[in-house]
Amino acid sequence: MGEAGPGLSFPGIGEQKGHMNIGKSAAIIAGALGCALVWAQDQPSKSVWDGIYTKEQAARGEPLYKQYCGTCHGESLEGIEMAPALAGGEFLDQWSGQTMGDLFERIRATMPRDRPGKLSRDINADITAYMLSFNQFPAGNTELSRDTQVLKQIKIEAAKPK
Ligand code: HEC
Repeated sequence: MGEAGPGLSFPGIGEQKGHMNIGKSAAIIAGALGCALVWAQDQPSKSVWDGIYTKEQAARGEPLYKQYCGTCHGESLEGIEMAPALAGGEFLDQWSGQTMGDLFERIRATMPRDRPGKLSRDINADITAYMLSFNQFPAGNTELSRDTQVLKQIKIEAAKPK
């Protein structure tokens, strides 16, 4: 956050009478606190390497992927013509640094390309779990969430953290 926090974004307020200064300092403090809170909330606490889906969920996702995505993105997620690959280097580079929430919303809101937004959160979560397993991220004991806010806490990292 630069020096112009949210509390300072009203032009001219600082130039007004002396008693405004208390309000101004309070605004600066509130602004700084706000920044710290936002920062804490925005830091994803997990990554795709933490076992964020189950084997069973990915197995459920496989036929769903084939039914809803495979015709365009390929049976092996390799991509066909206009539809990009959903596995491997380029795909992971593209998404590395973003969160599972970003990827989930991208899929949920824009895919399948020919009927965007038509699939339920459950189906999208299962398909996303299958994509994770195909990309060789480890399975764990809890299913991948269908809740975008929860998924925003999970960072996508192409390379396993040391
Ligand atoms: C009718 C063809 C079609 C179907 C079906 C389809 N997609 Fe796509 N998909 C595309 C095309 C074309 C693009 C690239 C253009 C765009 O982003 O809209 C794309 C882009 C994507 C992207 C962004 C990839 C990137 O790295 O930027 C993701 C993720 C994705 N699709 C996932 C899915 C999933 C999951 C399904 C099944 C639920 C699905 N798609 C079904 C055609 C399709």
